[in-house]
Amino acid sequence: MSKALDGVRILDFTHVQSGPTCTQLLAWFGADVIKVERAGAGDITREQLRDIPDVDSLYFTMLNHNKRSVTIDTKNPEGKLVLEALIQKCDVLVENFAPGALDRMGFTWERIQELNPRMIVASVKGFGPGPYEDCKVYENVAQCAGGAASTTGFDDGPPVVSGAQIGDSGTGLHLALGIVTALYQRTLTGRGQKVLAAMQDGVLNLCRVKLRDQQRLERTGTMKEYPQYPNGTFGEAVPRAGNASGGGQPGWILKCKGWETDPNAYIYFITQAPVWAKICNVIGKEEWATDPNYATPAARLPHLKDIFAEIERWTMTKTKFEAMQILNKYDIPCGPILSMKEIAEEPSLRKTGTIVEVDHPTRGKYLTVGNPIKLSDSPTEVTRSPLLGEHTEEVMTELGYSPEQISALRTAGAI
Ligand code: COA
Repeated sequence: MSKALDGVRILDFTHVQSGPTCTQLLAWFGADVIKVERAGAGDITREQLRDIPDVDSLYFTMLNHNKRSVTIDTKNPEGKLVLEALIQKCDVLVENFAPGALDRMGFTWERIQELNPRMIVASVKGFGPGPYEDCKVYENVAQCAGGAASTTGFDDGPPVVSGAQIGDSGTGLHLALGIVTALYQRTLTGRGQKVLAAMQDGVLNLCRVKLRDQQRLERTGTMKEYPQYPNGTFGEAVPRAGNASGGGQPGWILKCKGWETDPNAYIYFITQAPVWAKICNVIGKEEWATDPNYATPAARLPHLKDIFAEIERWTMTKTKFEAMQILNKYDIPCGPILSMKEIAEEPSLRKTGTIVEVDHPTRGKYLTVGNPIKLSDSPTEVTRSPLLGEHTEEVMTELGYSPEQISALRTAGAI
């Protein structure tokens, strides 16, 4: 079966997490992703957070499936020539080096255009143009600078970063969309273009609702769905809202049976307005369905704390899965707090390919997250990440280099 991006060649100059997330997705959609790495070392994540000595880390293997690896010293003059040949052969160059690194290597946008005017050059940077554009950036810096940390956590505590890698993987996703969009435009214009996804911008895009709230706060001085209402105080900026839902339907995380010993015995419970009467029935507070203090969403807002405390008295008598089963019967929106262990063992995620077991020649079998985006005409088959330089010879041959030339380049340290 064909793949959506069959025939698209990606020169993957990415490392760590943000860029590799992007190129892995493109590989899953069928692009030929050629990862260029530094000889001897490669992507730094190959050796970071290792769980097995001298074996590519899970950090690396889980972000670099379905790719080929070539090692080129792009600061060596002959290595530069090999990179030029690759630029001429590929459709997209993806990179997430520190600002200016590609230029310092001699591969400015102008030079790349000279070599291949159809080339799309896609970059992740920490910041867009502005006061911080020269800064190196990692995940949590982006979460802080993009508005996620200041709006995450509890009112009486410090800002908190999320376990979801919205700065790195989130920006990689944004970049992937930019790339396929540029590829589409190229079919009309014949020209490449630059694609930039700044991590601050990507995080802010995911925090869009918080900028919405900033403006609501400035206009009205309050936000009734926030836990600060009605007794707390609002300052000038959007406060941290704990586990409040952030939407029009109030929600909170509630303890379930076993919470004393199991850190994940909790459920997210949403008091959705249309099922309010059913919620009252389930928790044994039938009178709340008609009591004017509780019957409407507006009347409930000042009592949300008490309401959730009452619902929690009920959820604490059930495991999170029992509560799910009962609540789902009544269409009451809720979700169990699943641990990574529970997710890893969930059979339905294995069935859909969202969690996949992969075999690796030096590591053996390991679990990874497969392609979360399912295309009916372009199924994803997850294959292992490449060993460092595993495909150097193969790719060089495809570029037209003879065995003698390849061995001379090896001797020169260019590849
Ligand atoms: N051959 C020769 N040199 C190579 C090479 C190769 N194949 N591949 C990379 N290099 C060089 C680069 O040219 C650069 O050299 P320079 O500093 O002389 O210009 C050098 O390796 C290091 O690149 P750099 O990107 O600065 O790595 P770093 O480890 O110092 O910084 C980051 C890492 C992530 C902080 C930085 O790359 C960054 O800010 N990237 C953009 C934002 C981003 O993606 N952050 C999230 C990462 S998950």
